[in-house]
Amino acid sequence: MIRSFLRRRRRTLIISGAVVAVLGVNIPPAWTLIANYEHDKLINSEAYKEQYGHWDVVDLPSDMRVNAVHAALLDTGKLLIVAGSGNNQAFFDAGTFKTLLYDPTTGQTKLIPTPTDMFCAGHAFLPDGKLLVAGGTSRYEVLQDAVTKAAGTITVKNESPDGGTRNFPKGTEFVAPDGKRYNATSAFTIGPATKTVGKHGVVTVNASQESVFVEADNTGNDYVTNDPAHYSIQGLQGDDQRNIYGLGGAMTMNKQDFQGRKESYEFDPVTERYIRVADMNYKRWYPTLTGLPDGDVLAVSGLDGSGNVLDGDNEIFDPNTKTWAKRPDLKRYFPTYPALFQTGQPNTLFFSGSNSGYGPATKGRAPGLWDLSDNQFTPVPGLRDPDQLETSGSTWVGPVQNQQIMVVGGGGVGESPKSTGRIDLINLDSPDPHFTPGPSLPAGTRYPSLVTLPDDTTLITGGSQYYRGLNASDNHTARIFHPDTDTLTVAADPTVGRDYHSEALLMPDGRVITLGGNPLFSDAKNTITAPFEQRIEIYTPPYLYHGTRPIIISGPQSVARGDSATFGVTDAADVAKVRLIRPSAVTHVTNVEQRSVALAFTQAGGTITVSVPSQPTLVPPGYYMLFVTNKAGVPSVARWVQVP
Ligand code: CU
Ligand code: CU
Repeated sequence: MIRSFLRRRRRTLIISGAVVAVLGVNIPPAWTLIANYEHDKLINSEAYKEQYGHWDVVDLPSDMRVNAVHAALLDTGKLLIVAGSGNNQAFFDAGTFKTLLYDPTTGQTKLIPTPTDMFCAGHAFLPDGKLLVAGGTSRYEVLQDAVTKAAGTITVKNESPDGGTRNFPKGTEFVAPDGKRYNATSAFTIGPATKTVGKHGVVTVNASQESVFVEADNTGNDYVTNDPAHYSIQGLQGDDQRNIYGLGGAMTMNKQDFQGRKESYEFDPVTERYIRVADMNYKRWYPTLTGLPDGDVLAVSGLDGSGNVLDGDNEIFDPNTKTWAKRPDLKRYFPTYPALFQTGQPNTLFFSGSNSGYGPATKGRAPGLWDLSDNQFTPVPGLRDPDQLETSGSTWVGPVQNQQIMVVGGGGVGESPKSTGRIDLINLDSPDPHFTPGPSLPAGTRYPSLVTLPDDTTLITGGSQYYRGLNASDNHTARIFHPDTDTLTVAADPTVGRDYHSEALLMPDGRVITLGGNPLFSDAKNTITAPFEQRIEIYTPPYLYHGTRPIIISGPQSVARGDSATFGVTDAADVAKVRLIRPSAVTHVTNVEQRSVALAFTQAGGTITVSVPSQPTLVPPGYYMLFVTNKAGVPSVARWVQVP
């Protein structure tokens, strides 16, 4: 670990002789020291920073470092960094779940009590600025070699409309007709059957059901079966025994995937606490949560309580009642963490094809437009490397009014060695939307981070050529995409490599914060297990080396859609662009919150008067960062504005 730490740092750090002597390893030859010195001088020169920008590594105090699996920028300017168990089985087993609140302006940190394992949950901002966090981990995966007990899913049925909801503890025993026993791996509840009275007083009873993952009582192949069977539940008597039972399918020794959770929480940026709200109807691990124009949130996909991708069971959260409603009318399958964007058209979502993690290669992976009014899905053609969308990134390009989306990088399904540097673009406003080729990244890139900047360019940073950085393939490169010319320019190289479980977000000060990274190994031969990357690195784009920044001096804290508002600004006559940028909530290359809204404006004296578009499809309710950018392309620090 020490060896790789030094190797990674060598490019930018001059290791002092004393430190090297103490560690006794890896003494760099004199010429390396000189080369490092020259390189350091170059990347710290004003001319270099003006052209390529600059990166700075931030080390938090060791007791404040967390595995940044999720990151969201709150309207207090603080960053919510969620680890949950952080892809660490020991933390999961111990119930150690972490969330860190980090203020990039002051450097202040605070650990937040984390009530459940939010590792690999989904998230979306609500109209009042709270962050909805739903799902997470109820069980870690067990690889094929480690499986010792046959396991599978039992569907528990309750045929009785009486007796209310029944609770069963973890370990509840299911007994097969041949006497073999299988135990529930988690607690479960089952509601009563539903009773409906039809014409002529005919009563119909529909059994309720719940899926439960079970594991054989004992090790060995004796418990493997492919036959469907009726299981009785140990401990039930009389009518209960007849009414409540299990129907099981195959019990196998196959790999057991991670399993999802139902809980959902709102994180309140003011009290800095999680508040529990209603459970989802389905357990989800790797879901996407997409905000809708009325402030509702749609949850799709994820692994269920047995580790299978949900078969199109989607649901919607209403922030007024704080409850979830099943939407069987919107039954549609997506692979896990699908990139699903609210388009400018009402009732129309766009699936770019980007996703992260699970599901068969051939199912539900084609990009297209999803009409929520009739559940029709219209595929869009033209995307290159369509077999390499897993671990790709997608984002709006420039102002959302342009309705242009880019798809960047990605790789083959699972641990495939394939990856691509493809960047393709699509204009959703065109009468026949189709992808067109854009420029290419210098190497195949899984897990790219895409950040929309206030000058309408997009920073593309991080990623690795192979699955989870295998073969020491972290890219250590960054590019800036310019939508006016469809070209890439080189940005300064980040010091820290980032791949799986990494994030990048625009901060209110116009810089970009990057976090996380979860490579499998830290060496090129894939022999040394890698730690989770806990360093933070902040990118200062070239525009912050291009002269005086405009300052937003005054103005309202809230502007309604369709309204105008006046802000006091230094050098108002020099303002070239005004943007509302929605703060990001990112995980697993998925960031469907990020959007930049262009505001029309007029200048008078020391003020600008802006108008906010009237369509909620373009400006969904919530908090936004208001940036003004001058004619030299230099942005202000943002002012937070709520759009109710
Ligand atoms: Cu530096
Ligand atoms: Cu993950």
